[in-house]
Amino acid sequence: MNTAPLFQPFHSDKLKLDNRVVMAPMTRGFSPGNVPGDDVAQYYRRRAAGGVGLIVTEGTGIDHPASISGATIPVFHGEEALAGWKKVVDAVHAEGGKIAPQLWHVGMARKVGDEPNVDAQPVGPSGLDLKGEKIGEPLTESEIADLIQAYAQAASDAKKLGFDAIELHGAHGYLIDQFLWERTNQRTDRYGGDLAGRATFAVEVVRACRAAVGEDYPIIFRYSQWKMYDYEARLAQTPEELEQLLGLLVDAGVDIFHASTRRFWEPEFEGSELNLAGWTQKLTGKPTISVGSVGLQAEFTPGARQTEETDPTAHLEELIHKLEQNEFDLIAVGRALLSDPEWPNKVRDQRSDDIQMFSREALQTLV
Ligand SMILES: Cc1cc2nc3c(=O)[nH]c(=O)nc-3n(C[C@H](O)[C@H](O)[C@H](O)COP(=O)(O)O)c2cc1C
Repeated sequence: MNTAPLFQPFHSDKLKLDNRVVMAPMTRGFSPGNVPGDDVAQYYRRRAAGGVGLIVTEGTGIDHPASISGATIPVFHGEEALAGWKKVVDAVHAEGGKIAPQLWHVGMARKVGDEPNVDAQPVGPSGLDLKGEKIGEPLTESEIADLIQAYAQAASDAKKLGFDAIELHGAHGYLIDQFLWERTNQRTDRYGGDLAGRATFAVEVVRACRAAVGEDYPIIFRYSQWKMYDYEARLAQTPEELEQLLGLLVDAGVDIFHASTRRFWEPEFEGSELNLAGWTQKLTGKPTISVGSVGLQAEFTPGARQTEETDPTAHLEELIHKLEQNEFDLIAVGRALLSDPEWPNKVRDQRSDDIQMFSREALQTLV
């Protein structure tokens, strides 16, 4: 198989990458005290050395007491955590790699009593959890302003630390997506209502980050139709709705979209072969990252993230074809890179027999 299209350099106005392979953001839970340590730096360094063009880190919490759930999820604020991230950046750059932190707030996906701030209440647009059940109060306008400021501060810190871009986690039913999604956003003020109203929070986050990092710094926005535990959920039922949503985000300052799907080869809307990233590129003219089951037979499921795999090059031919068609620009690889940091170099060098296949053990350690 000719895998050369995966290894063409990528050049956009603000970001230059050696190839088209992006490491998908993956929460690992190996940062005790919410601080990424040397082992985390080495974990990312190995992916850079293994040929990944752009690493997107695991989701990392912005400066808000309820931004994450868990004592080992890294945060992106405070001297210690930022010093940890600086080591990660330096390790990746030492291998010639590029890296963006994924800035995260889980919103109502947080359970009451979760570490690290057991007293912090989950927050979200309408106090509704992902099932649409009321478990808290809607955020006030001033609380929303503080959250936006926390994203902007994280963006500014990312740039100061030497990260090559930021990625805003606007996908999978977490805070930004809870504003975008009708089920979790029942507000009647300017942050709710129709699609444009529900996009206001995302737009203001992007604008604040843009103001914090300046015009030349790349902002990646990850979004999805699907939500944790609801794969049928939709933000946009039609290409027209998608165009409206993405247009607002482009105007706010997004440079690159990361359209999260669980199987990259699935068409998004009837009557076209384009997947969600393909539509995103077509509708916005912006570079896009696709994702979903590259090098894997079983798709991603949050509840059961483990499968036994037997073909490390699964779906590669289809991927190469889509890249050749310029349907999207970059492809994120998740689980395949957990088990084998050298997945890109091995694919490039036709050494797929040497690829360490994904299995549940890969989730237990920082290989
Ligand atoms: C262990 C694990 C943790 C994940 N954590 C995140 C995360 O922090 N942020 C995010 O946007 N997606 C997260 N995802 C989803 C991945 O980024 C990716 O979209 C998904 O795994 C599909 O890609 P794959 O089929 O190549 O694994 C996670 C996936 C896995 C397997």
